[in-house]
Amino acid sequence: MNQPHIKKMAVIGVGLIGGSFSRALKSAGAVGQVAGFDRDPENLAEAVRLGVVDTAASTLAEVVQGADLVFIAVPVGSVAAVVAQVAPFLPPGCIVTDGGSVKAEVVQACEPLMPDGTFFVGGHPIAGTEHSGAAAAFAELYQGRRCILTPTATTSAEALELVHRLWLATGCRVECMDALTHDRVFAAVSHLPHMVAYALVHAVAGSAEEEDSILAFSAGGFRDFTRIASSDPAMWRDIALMNRGALLDMLDRYSVEFNTLREHVANGDGLWLEEFFHTSKRLRDGIA
Ligand SMILES: NC(=O)c1ccc[n+]([C@@H]2O[C@H](COP(=O)([O-])OP(=O)(O)OC[C@H]3O[C@@H](n4cnc5c(N)ncnc54)[C@H](O)[C@@H]3O)[C@@H](O)[C@H]2O)c1
Repeated sequence: MNQPHIKKMAVIGVGLIGGSFSRALKSAGAVGQVAGFDRDPENLAEAVRLGVVDTAASTLAEVVQGADLVFIAVPVGSVAAVVAQVAPFLPPGCIVTDGGSVKAEVVQACEPLMPDGTFFVGGHPIAGTEHSGAAAAFAELYQGRRCILTPTATTSAEALELVHRLWLATGCRVECMDALTHDRVFAAVSHLPHMVAYALVHAVAGSAEEEDSILAFSAGGFRDFTRIASSDPAMWRDIALMNRGALLDMLDRYSVEFNTLREHVANGDGLWLEEFFHTSKRLRDGIA
């Protein structure tokens, strides 16, 4: 696929994901001008100051003016509301895509909001850090990572191809997947681990009086395991709520495994424990 070129891109939500998309496309020479909009005016001003976007718009109507492509990178619970607000102002032919971590509900809500002659393509880059905001954005975030696109039966082939080529330009490998499959897969490999990390910090910190003393002793394992509990709380609230069904299935499966483990610890069943850990190690070691 040859290099795409977008004359004007609008980024709505100029944080880690939106800001890094802008930076990556700018450094690949795949975009001319980038206008940004963010509900946090300080973050937006910082984005312009750091060169993450070229201009700051003060309204959603203004940011999409003349845009060939609109990238929405706000918490998943707000994506459809943003699409509804920009829809009347989208230029003909405009493509709207997003970077949200949950897809089925987002795509289902957004597609019918698109005016005739404009197009929606759902997307989710499998890249990130626990940091937020424009200052956390960097051009290399997507290098060597995967981006999942979730077209439906009504997605325009041309719009899909352009979004595909843009993600390739950021350094991503691109895969297409049905939105429901996406949500089941990421409930397992991303959303469940975040819930477990958040709960683990609570369990270990215990009561407020214990917090300082116990956490002061936290060593490598605890720190490594709970790094993702530093992720943005509002973003994870939305992910938990918007992927509730698939996440509940995984939380239930996890509870079963965890309770079984607890029983064998309580029974002092060393043989079982070693076998359980051995299987987990073999599976974990097999991840590339
Ligand atoms: N951080 C990750 O690891 C990661 C990875 C893949 C996908 N995502 C998805 O990307 C999206 C953005 O995440 P992020 O990590 O860039 O978060 P972020 O907090 O760094 O950036 C989000 C930005 O959106 C702005 N915002 C929030 N609501 C808004 C609204 N209604 N209108 C305009 N601006 C609004 C915030 O002020 C913030 O600057 C989320 O949907 C998330 O699920 C995140």
